[in-house]
This record gives sequence, structure tokens and C-alpha cells, in this order.
Amino acid sequence: MCGIVGVIAPDASRRAFEGLKSLEYRGYDSWGVCVPAAKGGQFDLERHVGRIANALVSVGEGSEIALGHTRWATHGNVSERNCHPHLSNDGSVAIVHNGIVENFVQLKEKLSKKGFRFNSDTDSEVIANLIQHHIACGFVEAVRLSLLEIEGSYAIAALHGGEEKIVCARNGSPLVIGAAKGGEYYVASDATAFLQHTKNAVFLLDHQMAVCGKGLLEVRSVESGRRVRFRQKRLSWSIEQVRKGSFDHFMIKEISEQPSSIAAAVNQPRKELARFVSILSGARNIVLLGCGSSYHSCIAGSYFFSSVAGINARAILASEFPSFAKFYGKGSVVVAVSQSGETADLLEAVKAAGGENGAKVISIVNVMDSSLMRASDCTLLMNAGPEICVLSTKSYTSQLAILLLLAYSLAGDEWGGKQIIREAADAAKSILDSSRGAMQALAKKLADSNSLFVIGRSDAFPVSLEAALKIKEVSYIHAEGFAGAELKHGTIALVEQGTPAIVLSTQKTRSLTTSNAIEMKSRGAFIIGVDSQPNDAYDININVPELGSANPLMLIIPIQLLSYYLAIERGCDPDKPRNLAKAVTVK
Ligand code: G6P
Repeated sequence: MCGIVGVIAPDASRRAFEGLKSLEYRGYDSWGVCVPAAKGGQFDLERHVGRIANALVSVGEGSEIALGHTRWATHGNVSERNCHPHLSNDGSVAIVHNGIVENFVQLKEKLSKKGFRFNSDTDSEVIANLIQHHIACGFVEAVRLSLLEIEGSYAIAALHGGEEKIVCARNGSPLVIGAAKGGEYYVASDATAFLQHTKNAVFLLDHQMAVCGKGLLEVRSVESGRRVRFRQKRLSWSIEQVRKGSFDHFMIKEISEQPSSIAAAVNQPRKELARFVSILSGARNIVLLGCGSSYHSCIAGSYFFSSVAGINARAILASEFPSFAKFYGKGSVVVAVSQSGETADLLEAVKAAGGENGAKVISIVNVMDSSLMRASDCTLLMNAGPEICVLSTKSYTSQLAILLLLAYSLAGDEWGGKQIIREAADAAKSILDSSRGAMQALAKKLADSNSLFVIGRSDAFPVSLEAALKIKEVSYIHAEGFAGAELKHGTIALVEQGTPAIVLSTQKTRSLTTSNAIEMKSRGAFIIGVDSQPNDAYDININVPELGSANPLMLIIPIQLLSYYLAIERGCDPDKPRNLAKAVTVK
């Protein structure tokens, strides 16, 4: 995973450092910054294990060029020697890398025979040494020749001592260049790293490299080395969206933004929505693919398609798709759902389905110009604004809103779909207002729990999976979600005196979920009902309005709040849970 930045601007090291802070969601086990040293064509390096948090960068005052990196360890443990930036043997080349060099063992062997020594356990260090190895051809060409030798994925940025330029490139990992007034350039894994300096962005394509100097930007093909045309785009995200403002954490900020993000999800270009509907209506079969919370949205989508549009669509985990890919060839439609549009397992599945199998790929994505968007025949953007917290909250409800809108549109009632989603957006506001205090109090009560269960039936079943995921990933309390009827097939054995159980109930499922609640209560469980009606089976009732097919959007909101307050009660960082990263770019 990891996040990289490069800066050509006054006060470059501080700007790189600030940029890294907004990329920490990509990995946060260690970080580093480097700038050219005062003389000798070498670099000053600062690298630390741990989060950036309130640290301060000490190198590079006055420097006008800098590289930075925030790491999520893949090759090599979390230690200072494995932190980026990495330097080449003679110290003349510095690089930062996001991705995996799959043939690094072979490259290391080759370079070792030529006398190169390695100071880290990473795959990335070979890139610095390869560039040094080719440097006689000139810096830009040396980077290009090195990239031609690399197998795997990369977004890299490199410096060569004495040259005031950054050479960067991408293949499979995201990279965007920001162009600001005064000839300033920013290179980053994600535009949030430079949004405070510019909204003008150039998104590199795979197998492209760029040379950024003061007032200079050239984009080249890695394969031929020839210059290629590029387009500058204007970003729609605002700086306020990537700041916490008056909130303590991004998680609670993003949960609170849902009334507007759900409403924004219906603002889809008519032409694109019509294209989606036409592709889906003509499909031989449909599969919804995603990972993590996005997979839970896919399951919810399959319920929406079935109940609202009478269409059978299967949800499959992107990583498990290879076992079923043979059923989704020409005539099939893959609906790929992703916040980041960079999740490796999903990109791999889409590549197999779309390219080799000939299926149509349509996607629902939040990040514009992401790899998934490029790999799709068409895309609906979620319009949720940047999501910084590692956990998906507003992006999950936006995905649900778009899948619901699609189901209504497929049933020939786009207007009805928009109407119910707008109602859901209003209702989200009232849920947030009414349940915040109750969830804070409930979190205090549940903070010492070891284990917690969530049940739901029908379209509330995928919500139970998402609810359990939210609780466990942010508070580290073991939580399990499952379909209400499954209780008797095993999990009820774990229910004992005081075990907390959340029961997600709707008008359609109430009679059966009540029986399940009573089964658990009679074995000592503490029942938390999320329902539009009180019920004697509940020890606590969290009231959410009944909104028919939009119920899944309602049921999750109090649980998002509960998860947040559980994290606070237990002293966990809600924005950066341990071991997790927001964009999982490794398989
Ligand atoms: C990571 C994140 C999850 C997210 C999943 C899929 O595991 O921590 O919050 O749901 O990736 O991400 P995507 O960007 O494809 O929705």
C-alpha cells in the first residue's frame, strides 16, 4: 500500500511532510522524508518508525525539492532501515515507491554480482540501485530503463543528486501530479496530499512517466521514452473536505456527512445512468464484485436488484472471483464496487472478467480517475467527497444509494428511486441527531465486552455483516454478523449471560427477528434492537424510521456511531485502526 509524495516548491520538505499526513490512511507504520544535501549531490534523510501524528520534520529547511513516504510494510519488517526514501549505494539516487517489485530477488542477485550492497529487506531498494546502475544514460533514461526491468506494480518518485527534477512513474499503483502557480509541482498517490496548494491535476496512466522540474512538466511513455500528450483536470474536491474542521476525527466527520453524501449520490448524469440501465437490462447474467465494506454493499445490491427490479444478480468477493469467472464471459455484466478504485483483488478480477472473458465491466467508484474507473466500460461516481478515515462509512451508504437507484431505474422507476433516497438522506439526519447520545451511553456499557453478535434477515442481513465489521475493525471487540435464521445452526452456543446482541429489524422481517431475539434473550443475551418500533424482546431500542427498500441505509447509521464511540471508550484511534489500510493495493 503506502503513500508517496514529491514536491518542487518553496519549503518543500514541510509541504511533503504535510502531504504525507493526508496520505497516512494508505499506511502508517513508518514514514520518511528526504531533501538534497547542501553539497556533494547527496541527500539528507529523515526516517521514523511509527505514525507521523504530531511529529515534526527536521531536515531540509529552505529546500525546494523533497520526497516523502508513509509505509504499510509488505517486504521487510517495520524498522528504520526498511523505511523509505531509499538511497542507492553511492547515495546519489533517492526513491519512494508504492507497490511490489515481484522480481526483486532476481534483480537483487543481478545487482549484487555487479557489486551493489543492500541496506534494507525491502523490494523497493532495488529500484534506487537500478537507477544508479543505468545513470550513465542520464537520469530520466536511467529511470526508464530501470522501470523496463521491473515486474510488478509501482508508483515511484525519484531524485538524482544535483538535478532539480523529480522523475515519477506509475504502473498499477495510483499517481497524480498537481500543478500550481509559480511553476510548483506536486507528485502524490492521491490528490488530497496537495489539495491545499492546487486543484489542477494530471493523472498519469499506467506505463507513463513524468519529469517535473521548476515550471516544467513532461509526460513520456515508459516503453518508448517518447513524449505523450496529457490533459490537466480541475479537481472538484475542496480543502475543507480533507480537514477535520470542528470534529475530533475523520470517522465522526464522515459519519455526520451522510445526509449530504446520500443525497449527492442520486445526482448522476442522465446519460451515464441510462447507459448502466441499458447494459444491465441486456445482460445474460450479472455479478457484483467488491472487497470489505464494498462487498457488503454488493450483497445489499443483490437484494435490491431482486426485490425492486426482479433481477437475479450474484455478489462475489473479488478475491474469490477466479473460481467463478468461467460463468461470466461475453454477454455477462460485472458491477465492480469500490471506494478507492485501487483495490488490487478487485482490479485483478475486473481484468480477468473484462479482458480475457469479454464481460462488460461497469463500476461504482468514489475516486475520480482511479484505476478501476479506467478499466471499466462506464462508471457512476459516488459523489461522496474524499473519505479519509480508514473505515468506510459515508462511502458505504453512497454505494447502497446508487445500487438502490439502479434497481429502481431497472424497474422503470428512476423517479421513485431518487425520491426514496432523498427521504433516506433526510432520515439519516434525524437518526444522527436522535441516536448520538444513546450510542455514546451504549458504548460505555459495552466497552468491556469480549464478543458481540449482530443479526438481520433479508436486506438487513448484509447490514449485519457491515455492522459487525465496523465494530471489530475499530474497537477490536470480536463481532460477528449473520442471518437471523442461522443463529440456531451454531452461533447460539456462544450466547451466555450478558452477551450483547444487536437485532436489526424491519417491518418485513420483524416477526421472525423477534423470535430470534427471544431465543437469545432467554439464554441471557442483552438485546439491542435497531427498529422503528419498540419491542418487549429488546433491552434497548434504537429507533430508526421504516423506509421500505431504503432500510439498509438507515439501519447502519446508529451502528457506525456505536463503533466510533466504542473506539473512543477503548482508547483506539478511530481513523487508523491497527494493521489496516484504506486502499489495499496488494493481493
Ligand atoms: C480496505 C478498507 C475497507 C474497504 C476495503 C475495500 O480493507 O480498510 O474499509 O472496504 O479496503 O476498499 P474499496 O476502496 O475497494 O472500497
